[in-house]
Amino acid sequence: MIKFTLVSTKGGVGKTTLAANLGALMADMGLRVLLIDSDIQASLSKYFPILQEAPFGLTKVITSGMVTPDCISRTAIEGLDIVRSDDSEKTLQSWLMFRIDRGDRLANALQSPCVSEDYYDCIVIDTQGSPSCPIRDAAALAADQIIIPINPDTMSSREFYDGTMDMFAKLEPNSRYRLGPIKTVIYKKKRTRDAKTVEETFRSDFSPKNLTQSIKQDFIKMGGRVTVLNTTVPDAKAYTESVTLGIPAHRHEVKRDGSMPSAFETMHALLWELVPNLEGMYANTSADNQQVEGDA
Ligand SMILES: Nc1ncnc2c1ncn2[C@@H]1O[C@H](COP(=O)(O)OP(=O)(O)O)[C@@H](O)[C@H]1O
Ligand SMILES: [Mg+2]
Repeated sequence: MIKFTLVSTKGGVGKTTLAANLGALMADMGLRVLLIDSDIQASLSKYFPILQEAPFGLTKVITSGMVTPDCISRTAIEGLDIVRSDDSEKTLQSWLMFRIDRGDRLANALQSPCVSEDYYDCIVIDTQGSPSCPIRDAAALAADQIIIPINPDTMSSREFYDGTMDMFAKLEPNSRYRLGPIKTVIYKKKRTRDAKTVEETFRSDFSPKNLTQSIKQDFIKMGGRVTVLNTTVPDAKAYTESVTLGIPAHRHEVKRDGSMPSAFETMHALLWELVPNLEGMYANTSADNQQVEGDA
């Protein structure tokens, strides 16, 4: 089983879109996928139509310390289930904040029999983009791999250095779990000179050679665990249009003309880079297929 958590202290960078699309891509490959929405805004919970709504959601999972079938809703994407966020009043956040085991509670709950290795192949956890948040910390510690979308603009990359990296450095001392590898993906890439420059600087900062020369010890410690993925996700309307249609982007834009890869190609390349074992496996887009040829 693989567990991904989408993290960034900044909002609006693409966490929910990426969580939904990676989850749905794997489901369309025939894998059984559980999404977990840990953001109080509950965007992932509303991303795809829900076929069968469970009476409970994340609050029961965290407070009981177990995932039980009555917390798992079924989405309209076959093979894609979800633990919905149900904490709009922030009651769960406050409850968790005072628990000594707050960092470990989600990781422990994911050991429950109804999630265990035989049932789901993959878990994708979406989180809230805020500087301090106990559920987000627990979600980061529950992952095998942490995925961080970075928009190639100066403000976003600065927030990664000052906010997200700093948050990671503080997490491990308070938990019995260790953080998984941190994989950053250049996301919503525009075809501008500025985007190119920011991306180049970012890649250069995390190259092993430059890391060893960094004067900031904390940066070396955490930065050595950061990979900048080769696959980049363009700023493209396929990702926004598909939300409106209630389908994943890879179904919406299988092919497109022009030099920019389609959402189908991009999402496969990204997943294969994250999980090399899946390389060569393709999503079946024939179910409820709403293929639209991309515009040039
Ligand atoms: N690749 C993309 N290209 C263009 N717009 C995108 C892309 N991915 C997501 N978006 C849009 O960007 C906005 C923020 O994305 P979202 O996934 O909600 O970010 P976050 O969860 O980090 O707050 C949404 O309106 C979404 O539709
Ligand atoms: Mg979000």
